[in-house]
Amino acid sequence: MKLQKSAGLKFRREHKKKQKYVMAAAGVLAVLCLFAGLKMTSVPKVLLKVNPVTILQDEELPKVKASAVCVNKKKPKKKIEKGYTLGQFLEELNAGKGYKLKYKADNTKEGTYPVQIVMDKALEKKLSQKWRGKVKFSVEEGVVTVRNKYGTWDGSKFKKLDGTYVVSDFIVSKGEEYFFDENGEMCTGERIIADQKCVFGKDGKLISRERYLNPDMPMVALTFDDGPGKYTETLLQALEKHDARATFLMLGSRVGQYPNALKKMEEIGCELGNHSWDHANLVKLDETGIRAEIEQTNQAIEAVVGHGASIVRPPYGSFNATVRGVAGLPIVLWSVDTLDWKRKDAAQITEYVMNTVSDGDIILMHDIHDFSVNSAIELIPKLKEKGFQLVTVSEMAKARGVTLKPGVKYFRFYKE
Ligand code: NI
Repeated sequence: MKLQKSAGLKFRREHKKKQKYVMAAAGVLAVLCLFAGLKMTSVPKVLLKVNPVTILQDEELPKVKASAVCVNKKKPKKKIEKGYTLGQFLEELNAGKGYKLKYKADNTKEGTYPVQIVMDKALEKKLSQKWRGKVKFSVEEGVVTVRNKYGTWDGSKFKKLDGTYVVSDFIVSKGEEYFFDENGEMCTGERIIADQKCVFGKDGKLISRERYLNPDMPMVALTFDDGPGKYTETLLQALEKHDARATFLMLGSRVGQYPNALKKMEEIGCELGNHSWDHANLVKLDETGIRAEIEQTNQAIEAVVGHGASIVRPPYGSFNATVRGVAGLPIVLWSVDTLDWKRKDAAQITEYVMNTVSDGDIILMHDIHDFSVNSAIELIPKLKEKGFQLVTVSEMAKARGVTLKPGVKYFRFYKE
């Protein structure tokens, strides 16, 4: 019993001794930690962070800024070096001194574009040498976000900025074109959209689009005589904007003055026709005279676009057997005369055409008058809205199964 007791006492004493050592060790460690901790927290930690910016597509690219803070909240009066405080350092950083922000972004495509912080050599040197241990410096780079100007994707749909979905329309996203059907679902595969045959990939990206004329749908050929003139290019811009085509019956004597207009006609798929050299009444000329009027004009057109006219419209619609023989091209007249030169008023011309037009018509106008061009600019979207495909004379003939023949007269292409 006694032995046992003393053994128990000894054990207890030993145990107490060990506890003391442990406590002493812990104490030293705590002091060390405190010391180290004090030393660590005594250095100001400065963070320079890029301020994120978001813009909508096509807005001007912004000037990006960065802001500096002391993350461990040191007093601004704390000295980094003699006569220079932490507060001053932060102020200078916030004023954009000591570094540059660099980024490359395409404001036409939505996406996030990284913004880099490039430190000035002098500041970098200071931080790594003179200020080493005086200030802990870190940077956080950021992004410029370009948001789609229409809205954002929502699964296979596209939500517009106003919260509604894109329906029966195209959207450009990240430089690719997509189409959303009547239910707002993204289209894939082949699809006829208005007057175009579009092919979309499995991911919905538009692969190709080509002009597609539906022979069963209404179509109309706008034709412009006596040009080109100073309003022709304005008219061509309107045609291009609406992806519409027209036919220009030109005077050879004017062609050389407006080469850009002819090049644009060619580029956007318009048809170039011959309206004689100087608006001569061809029936009053002999064969040589007729030939000169037609051929010189073809040569003038060819000099600009590389090929001659595809059709001819004799001035005043006046022709005879000799003209037929010499023309060498289909003779195209008209089925709707707008009498634009007489009406001299865009609104009146537009109203007349809209009330008169029917499927297969060839409409006569003159692009040398501002009122005619202004009317055409109104008519192009109005006719499209009414379901008309705006086509060239040759396109309409082809769609209606007519092969145009030289010397033969055409004035409309109604359905059989
Ligand atoms: Ni004429």
